Amino acid sequence: MAPDQSSRGLLGARSDRRSFDKNDHSDSDSDSDLDATEFLDREAQTSSEPKPAFLSSPAARWKSSLARFLAGRSRRCLIVLVFVVGVWVLLGAGGTFAYKKYQQEPTYGLSPPWYPSPKGGIASTWAESYKKAAKMVDKMTLAEKVNVTTGTGWQMGLSVGTNGPAVHVGFPQLQLQDGPLGIRFADNITAFPAGITVGATWNRQLMYARGKAHAIEAREKGINVLLGPCVGPLGRMPAGGRNWEGFGADPYLQGIAGAETVKGIQSEGVMATIKHFVANEQEHFRQPWEWGLPHAVSSNIDDRALHELYAWPFGDAVKAGVASVMCSYNMVNNSYSCGNSKLLNGILKDELGFQGFVMSDWLAQRGGVSTALAGLDMTMPGDGVGWADGKSLWGPELTKAVLNGSVPVERINDMATRIVAAWYQLGQDDETKFPRQPPNFSSWTNDRLGVLAPGSPSPQPQVQVNKFLNVQANHSIIAREVAAEGTVLLKNDAGLLPLTRQGLPDAKLKARRSVLARATGKQHTGKFKIGIFGEDAGPGNGPNACKDRGCNQGTLASGWGSGAVEFPYLVTPIEALRSQFNTSRVALNDYLVNKPPTSAMADLELCIVFANADSGEGFTKWDDVSGDRPNLDLQKGGDALITTVASTCGGGVGDVIVVIHAVGPVLMEKWIDLPNVKAVLLANLPGEESGNALADVLFGDVNPSGHLPFTIGKSLKDYGPGGQVMYRPNGVVPQQDFTEGLYIDYRYFDKQGIEPRFEFGFGLSYTQFKYSGLEVTPRKTKSALPKERPSPAAEPPAYSTAVPDSKEVLFPEGFSPLEKYVYPYLRSVDEIVSDPYPYPDGWDTKQPLSGAGGAEGGNPDLWEVYVEVSVEVENVDGVAGAAVPQLYLEYPAEGEEGVDFPVRVLRGFEKVWLERGQKKKVVFGLTRRDLSYWSVERQNWVMVVGGEYGFAVGESSRDVKVRGSW
Ligand code: NOJ
Repeated sequence: MAPDQSSRGLLGARSDRRSFDKNDHSDSDSDSDLDATEFLDREAQTSSEPKPAFLSSPAARWKSSLARFLAGRSRRCLIVLVFVVGVWVLLGAGGTFAYKKYQQEPTYGLSPPWYPSPKGGIASTWAESYKKAAKMVDKMTLAEKVNVTTGTGWQMGLSVGTNGPAVHVGFPQLQLQDGPLGIRFADNITAFPAGITVGATWNRQLMYARGKAHAIEAREKGINVLLGPCVGPLGRMPAGGRNWEGFGADPYLQGIAGAETVKGIQSEGVMATIKHFVANEQEHFRQPWEWGLPHAVSSNIDDRALHELYAWPFGDAVKAGVASVMCSYNMVNNSYSCGNSKLLNGILKDELGFQGFVMSDWLAQRGGVSTALAGLDMTMPGDGVGWADGKSLWGPELTKAVLNGSVPVERINDMATRIVAAWYQLGQDDETKFPRQPPNFSSWTNDRLGVLAPGSPSPQPQVQVNKFLNVQANHSIIAREVAAEGTVLLKNDAGLLPLTRQGLPDAKLKARRSVLARATGKQHTGKFKIGIFGEDAGPGNGPNACKDRGCNQGTLASGWGSGAVEFPYLVTPIEALRSQFNTSRVALNDYLVNKPPTSAMADLELCIVFANADSGEGFTKWDDVSGDRPNLDLQKGGDALITTVASTCGGGVGDVIVVIHAVGPVLMEKWIDLPNVKAVLLANLPGEESGNALADVLFGDVNPSGHLPFTIGKSLKDYGPGGQVMYRPNGVVPQQDFTEGLYIDYRYFDKQGIEPRFEFGFGLSYTQFKYSGLEVTPRKTKSALPKERPSPAAEPPAYSTAVPDSKEVLFPEGFSPLEKYVYPYLRSVDEIVSDPYPYPDGWDTKQPLSGAGGAEGGNPDLWEVYVEVSVEVENVDGVAGAAVPQLYLEYPAEGEEGVDFPVRVLRGFEKVWLERGQKKKVVFGLTRRDLSYWSVERQNWVMVVGGEYGFAVGESSRDVKVRGSW
């Protein structure tokens, strides 16, 4: 990085107005690389979506109007024509204005340049795989190398993404499939709980186990690459539509959960994809045209927040050996993420030492040569800037770009090598585990027979595409455990929970009935009368009623979009409760609607009321939820349902238990303090075992141990200006400035002294834990900077850099291509033109290597434990259960001049099972990275040497039980 940029960080660099317009959007030699205006033309030609009038060619319109005028026979026709021309002139004027505006626009490319792209193969952990890959790639033709890097097009395989094989050297086509919570578009799989529920478990073993089970299913279905886990969005905005795919609004929690999931997935040989790199924090304007604008939102982030928050969990995943990273749709600092050299070359590949391959999100690639130079290694699904248009920005264009010298041979070699090395690294050359066949299910049909490339209109033979293999094994056990442990008990007045199968224990029941009799004059006898309320308790129209789960109906067990799956089954709360309550002692009445008749409620003794809030990926909208939620309210009248039930259940004094299923925080102010709302459970998004897991907690078979992976505020405003989704664009390229820096979620509440309703990390248990005996044991001496960056443990493969013979890229003789399918071949060598390519600014300036880099995951010293903190945790109450001691770091009060620190940040957690009366010692190891902040000036992680670090250990970010210092 040039010195003037390093001191200001990325956001600071905006003032440079260093233009990347062309670099991000155009090549001179490839018609697939578009600048902003070319892009508009291409869209107008190719998209089937209705487009604004200004996108059509004025000349064409004029000609057709004139022709119609000349041919006009009647006066009526003439009036119509005058009207049409008038409208055309008006629209044309508007169009010209907009067109000009777009031409003046925009502030592209304010992210600093980082070239050349670091080659893979420097890490000891990948050395063997790179050796094997080098042998294979060395034998590949250029067309094969290109094939490996380029998707074959949308629906050109049975999974959601397929690249091309390199048949002659034995490299198969890879099958890529969503998503983070199960195998999307597949039958007979497990619908696991969503990431947010996993985060709420705070249980590393379950994080790993879920990943492992997911991967077993993927492998058995014939998938090579899973498109998960998701650690971005991080949850800057609590209403962000896809926060639920990730693990919670804290980088440390996301990082641990992401890394454990990666390890679990990859333990089965399936490649994991950590996504979306980076700052895809909202759905509105996440990609061009989806929201009517020609460009995606730019998340403008300063260098420190990028390191300490948004890129942090990706660092954990890289350290865990993740095979693939998916770059996001949005721009970061006005450069599309998938063409952002600072992000991909600088941070990911140099600083974090990422050894696998970077793949684009689906159509997130917005330039051809420029993205290759910026560090993208694989484009998905392979089509160009228009959905399913078959006009790839790579494929034949990349072939040409290598042959005419625009993309260095070294770069295409590195791209292919990274992909092949990842394949070897995961042992996928073992054909007994990864047979070289298409998956045994089709994402595009439920029929037994179908075609292999349904995206192509070319005639194809019907083959068996669905084998309906059941891969669920006993994974429902893990799904149920995650759902139960990810359920957070927020309120439990007078120990109402757990219930028993007969309702309440005899003594409690007796006491309750006399209270009710005193308050209402009504003496209850006989069966215990329970009412279950709310659509969210029931099946609705079935769990798969809406495509991609894109609506909120019935009980909510998943958000919507590519992160959702087809439920094989869904145990609803009502089903589980009906089957588990002892009906000889309990009279269960259910009202599975959100406007139940109030007449029946007075006679009830206990009411369990369900409500929810849903969101999802921005390609689909439900009600007023366009991906992102419009607010944090319960949906479908949830608040009114709860308050109505509370005011009428048992004449207004019956006990009420509230159960919430939600994609993130919801506001509870309207009812949380009502005296008869005695218990509240936040069950997050529990997946297929929803009802069973809930019953486990309600009946105390599982003692709740979930803790909040986000803050529940009293209002959306309380999350601060940075917590607000941008619902209306503020320009042609919407500018989302992350000016709050580090202060999101609890960091913001703490800094501003805002009282949340329930703080990050909060969660009750049916027992009590006591914390004592905090000890601090230094393991290494504090020093500001990490050790010097080590020299590479291995050398990247070396290949010939000669431009190959252009003949080797021609369509093989007799080959009959499928229409729209993306191939790497050219029809004729005449297609190779040799205009000079306008390289990006800074392209020829070799950037200094980062002091924070040097190995997979970064400088190894960053991962060394510098201090250990131990505490004793004791279960001091009635039942066995799991505690979640959480360690929060407080930077030295003296701090560093000019450097601001959050009040405290999560830097350790464990889940500890404790029998009644049992005590255990828990040890937290804090690494150099944990203890450091990212210094924009020094461009490295810096430990604060003066003053004392504080360690606060407790049961939430605010409930500190014991303290220590170092
Ligand atoms: C777009 C989504 O953003 C991404 O998460 C997903 O993996 C791809 N589509 C493929 O479905």
